[in-house]
Amino acid sequence: MPLLVDVITLFPRMLDGFLAESILGKGIAAGSLSVRVHDLRTWTTDRHRTADDRPFGGGAGMVLKPEPVFAAIEQLQTPGCRRIYLTPDGRPFSAGLAQELSRESHLIFLSGHYEGIDQRIRDRVIDQEISIGDYVLTNGTLAAAVVIDALSRFIPGVLGQEKSLTHESFSRSLLDFPQYTRPAEFRGISVPEILLSGNHAEIERWRNARQSEKTRQVRPDLLK
Ligand code: ADE
Repeated sequence: MPLLVDVITLFPRMLDGFLAESILGKGIAAGSLSVRVHDLRTWTTDRHRTADDRPFGGGAGMVLKPEPVFAAIEQLQTPGCRRIYLTPDGRPFSAGLAQELSRESHLIFLSGHYEGIDQRIRDRVIDQEISIGDYVLTNGTLAAAVVIDALSRFIPGVLGQEKSLTHESFSRSLLDFPQYTRPAEFRGISVPEILLSGNHAEIERWRNARQSEKTRQVRPDLLK
């Protein structure tokens, strides 16, 4: 069953290039993935198309109003869909979560903005909150793109070869081994001899050793 993804954002054009390009476009072309981007202002009702307002209790910044967001989600939602809010205080995103999301049939992503969104949105029309990392973006639209890109790679038909998924980073909680291609010597720098040997068992051993070494250096937390 193809996966339908709806994105609700104040900045729909941020996703234009992302959706048109690369591997993701293949899944869309193959019909295994369908992404629809919606301008939140479509669901505003006043002349100025107001989507945000000042926070009750004071403070800097603006808060996304509940009315247009409730209207958008209530119009787009289907039974069993998962409604996700992108926010730095959400559950940390991971390959495991990407794979879990790729098995759903309908996802709705809400991109936040400004200082936040009215809590009633989170309490009533959001099922899950996801953060893509411990840093704050100006809005959640790029975070939605990151999540969609990562989950799309688990959808059959999006990646060319099934193989590329099994070998790479995080499938075994290790970082990747170094890759080389032709020419075997470039500006006096040679490709490691072993890779030209044709000895597949030795190559496998060498790659495993490089993975352990790299993981120990860069991400020792993954080895625990
Ligand atoms: N919106 C702003 N920063 C974010 C983050 N780190 N993850 C998800 N959504 C966000």
